Amino acid sequence: MNTDRQVVVVARVLLPAGLDRLRDRYEIREGGLDATREEVLAMAPGASALVPDGSVRVDGELLDACGDSLRVVANFAVGFDNVDLEACEGRGVIVTNTPDVLTEATAELAMALTLAAARRMSDAERDLRAGLWRGWDPAAYRGIEIWGSTVGVIGMGRIGTRFARLAHGLGARIVYTSQSPKPEAERELGAEQLRLAELLERSDVVSLHAPATSETRGLIGASELELVGPHGVLVNTSRGPLVDSEAVADALGTGTLGAAGLDVYENEPEVSPRLLAAPRCVLLPHIGSATVPSRDGMASAVADNVIAVLEGREPPSRVA
Ligand code: DGY
Repeated sequence: MNTDRQVVVVARVLLPAGLDRLRDRYEIREGGLDATREEVLAMAPGASALVPDGSVRVDGELLDACGDSLRVVANFAVGFDNVDLEACEGRGVIVTNTPDVLTEATAELAMALTLAAARRMSDAERDLRAGLWRGWDPAAYRGIEIWGSTVGVIGMGRIGTRFARLAHGLGARIVYTSQSPKPEAERELGAEQLRLAELLERSDVVSLHAPATSETRGLIGASELELVGPHGVLVNTSRGPLVDSEAVADALGTGTLGAAGLDVYENEPEVSPRLLAAPRCVLLPHIGSATVPSRDGMASAVADNVIAVLEGREPPSRVA
């Protein structure tokens, strides 16, 4: 091992599309999928680059464990709510993420969840596998159609806009909330910007595409679910803390909410047992970006960012 090489600490894992390029240039320490916080802290000293994924908390403690050598936190995710940006800034550490390469994959997964929840696919498949199918039943598993429905998009960034295009392609009216108006989406899709309460009331499907911030945490609770209503579908592929899972389980149980499709949870990998038991609910294990091109693209973007910073160049996707 060449001990002069700079050290890249991969807190959990990085795919070969990025890792192999980093291995050619740097010493790699990799924690593995099951790395504990203590193990990550123990690997950190002397790191020039730290590669966490969205499940690794990057705070003052971890940055201090890396020490003064640290120049970049290259998040293996587009979301960066796991990273304390102020703590990085205070230590002169650059933060990067992996935008663009996962836009289509995540929007497509949100649409898959929308259709699966709207058409009660999980309930129907579960019954079929359990041998409960007794033949064609005109009253069974009736859902809603996207054609002619109103689809509400919360957060019209890259992924939200792509999802809106898919929904528009299926014949839905698009309404949205966003920090700023989106004239292009309004022109191209006839999308209409609304306040949150009105969007929840008017939408048949509500899909979340906003980052987890102090403003968006707890955005959807019991009273918001009531506005979505007994025929409405809630879809979340953004971040778990935006939605109160227990409130979703309650609303599905009482019929206050029509259906839900969730890919993310407040405290992953834990999932509320009440949600697991809830009807009209499709639950996935945070696979929004899980396609081959998307995950390889993310790993490659991590390598691009690390190499750029360690070579003294501006990284392609800097967030702070
Ligand atoms: C992302 O890129 O933010 C995905 O949610 C994976 O963490």
